[in-house]
Amino acid sequence: MAKVEKRANAGMTGEKYTEKCSELLRKIISAAYGAGEIMVNASPHDEDVMAKGGRANYVTVFDEKVQEFLLKELSRILPEAHFVGEEEGQEIFLPEYGKGFTFVVDPIDGTSNFMRDYELSVTSIALLKDGRPYIGVIYNPYADRIFYAEKGCGAFENGRQIFTSPDPLSHSLVSMGTAPYYADEITHSAFEIGNWYLKRSIDIRRSGSAAWDLCLIASGRTGLFYEPLLCLWDYAAGACILEEAGGTITDMHGEILAYRGKSSILAVTAGVAKEDYLPPVELMRE
Ligand code: IPD
Ligand code: CA
Ligand code: CA
Repeated sequence: MAKVEKRANAGMTGEKYTEKCSELLRKIISAAYGAGEIMVNASPHDEDVMAKGGRANYVTVFDEKVQEFLLKELSRILPEAHFVGEEEGQEIFLPEYGKGFTFVVDPIDGTSNFMRDYELSVTSIALLKDGRPYIGVIYNPYADRIFYAEKGCGAFENGRQIFTSPDPLSHSLVSMGTAPYYADEITHSAFEIGNWYLKRSIDIRRSGSAAWDLCLIASGRTGLFYEPLLCLWDYAAGACILEEAGGTITDMHGEILAYRGKSSILAVTAGVAKEDYLPPVELMRE
């Protein structure tokens, strides 16, 4: 019953949120709402789940359905754009993706949560222009919260402009990602770094969706997010939203992102950016 009530909002066209949006952004928001509707109406069973490469890495038929839906919608919206989606298994960033427009889509970010009815998963859509984030849209259909940004136009959550927090690290929450699919090689390092940040902040959080973690920092709820290894579809949309909200995103060595594929990620607010926030190199195992 509770689920039915939540679904009532998921099919909104986004009209009330789009006053400050370009037509292109408005259409992408509408596609994200459609993806969210598929997510909240799904009840994944064991037979809907398939193992992927790597440790504890699964895909459900709903990840595939959402991706198919977004491929169809986004191709209609911007036919000339390339399309890179997680469930296509396109790990290599082809040179043509760096020219003109390319959609980079994670149909369901937080699949482990989704499979367990944990109600914290999002759909994440980035549009790159000449290889850099130009539009980012992230929709959490369980909370009916949509985050979006377009280069140079600011970042918004459900129609309200958002900014990162001015607070120092010592007064901030830190969220971490565990790089769960690479646990044998690098997850240990994520926890060591977490311990290092715990001593310098209020506390540590772990959501299970990197895209959502980037929305939380963009909207001033957390002060820093890091994960030792993420794919482009995990962070491209969130990077656009975060930067438009005044935040900074780099790899964990503080280097500028190339937006070409896998990378470690370190995102901070305007407040934390004023400090020396990089983790010590001896704790990193990328
Ligand atoms: C995962 C989530 C998770 C992060 C993993 C990602 P998926 O994406 O974002 O929070 O820790 O590194 O791969 O597999 O649920 O789309
Ligand atoms: Ca993901
Ligand atoms: Ca995914």
